Amino acid sequence: MSLPTHFTLNTGAKIPAVGLGTWQSKPGEVRKAVAYALKDGYRHIDAALIYGNEVEVGQGIVDSGVPRKDIFLTSKLWNTDHPNVAEGLEKSLKSLGVDYLDLYLIHWPVRLVPNESHPLLPVNPDGTRAVDRAWNMSETWRQMEEVYKIGKVKAIGVANWSIPYLEDLEKSWTVVPAVNQVELHPLLPQHELRAWCHQRGILLEAYSPLGSTGAPIAADEAIQAMAAKYNVSPAAILISYHINRGDVVLPKSVSEGRITSNHKELVSLEQADLDVLNGLAAQGKAKRINTPLWGFDLGFADWYGPVKSV
Ligand SMILES: NC(=O)c1ccc[n+]([C@@H]2O[C@H](COP(=O)([O-])OP(=O)(O)OC[C@H]3O[C@@H](n4cnc5c(N)ncnc54)[C@H](OP(=O)(O)O)[C@@H]3O)[C@@H](O)[C@H]2O)c1
Repeated sequence: MSLPTHFTLNTGAKIPAVGLGTWQSKPGEVRKAVAYALKDGYRHIDAALIYGNEVEVGQGIVDSGVPRKDIFLTSKLWNTDHPNVAEGLEKSLKSLGVDYLDLYLIHWPVRLVPNESHPLLPVNPDGTRAVDRAWNMSETWRQMEEVYKIGKVKAIGVANWSIPYLEDLEKSWTVVPAVNQVELHPLLPQHELRAWCHQRGILLEAYSPLGSTGAPIAADEAIQAMAAKYNVSPAAILISYHINRGDVVLPKSVSEGRITSNHKELVSLEQADLDVLNGLAAQGKAKRINTPLWGFDLGFADWYGPVKSV
């Protein structure tokens, strides 16, 4: 069985199954990484204003020579811009040097109130994050729908949204999010969240598929054993897992060899092996790696949930 190269969003647009992540890709590295990836056949780049490197990402796109229209480009509304979606979007478009995005996501269901402490991560006098808990996320989504309807972005979605947050948003959305981008890997398979999203036509995108910095999940013995069985790298098992499940996957690398293997060394996994991967978290290995200190629970109760095929 050959693996899908693309999935279809609820807008009807095709999205490449593998996208290049750019978080923590340093200045001086990310431009080359993006240019190399696009020349090597990637057609999907995952960016964000908070990564602080969108200018270089845009330069890498130009360097690659690949036409803009052939690239699926995502960026994300930062937390300080919830009341001003059009302005937040404009900053990313300008930095990236493009006039539209293929996908724009609300980066977190968390509004931060700008103050003089820090331009993007403002804190209160006591050092806690300057979060506005009273902010109505439906208003942010209403403004996301506006930039979608005028065509500045071809699709809109969310990132880091748990079921309770989505249930709340569902009460007022007129455009169903195309995507929910969340931490997703065999140690955090999020079975219930996937089922909820799939029932509504929301595609999941897997971030930190290798466990983020240093790819720690690749060292897991079950992953290593499966890599030996399929004669591929552990990273290839972790990336292939998502495509086999029907989710987009966003591995980050600035190394040419890894950028190549991360989209070319993919394998079709037997159902029994998918079941093993789907069950690892429930066997006591559940782990969430990205836990920013927003100061409150984001409602992700489902860390490993029941194992079921969805
Ligand atoms: N929406 C959100 O809140 C959110 C949060 C986190 C991430 N993301 C997105 O998801 C992307 C991926 O997540 P991530 O950056 O956290 O981590 P990741 O892709 O799970 O892992 C990246 C780490 O693995 C290494 N690596 C890459 N390919 C490898 C391979 N084949 N073998 C061994 N090591 C390998 C990378 O090093 P080298 O670069 O040196 O290869 C880097 O240290 C991000 O870049 C970002 O675009 C979104």
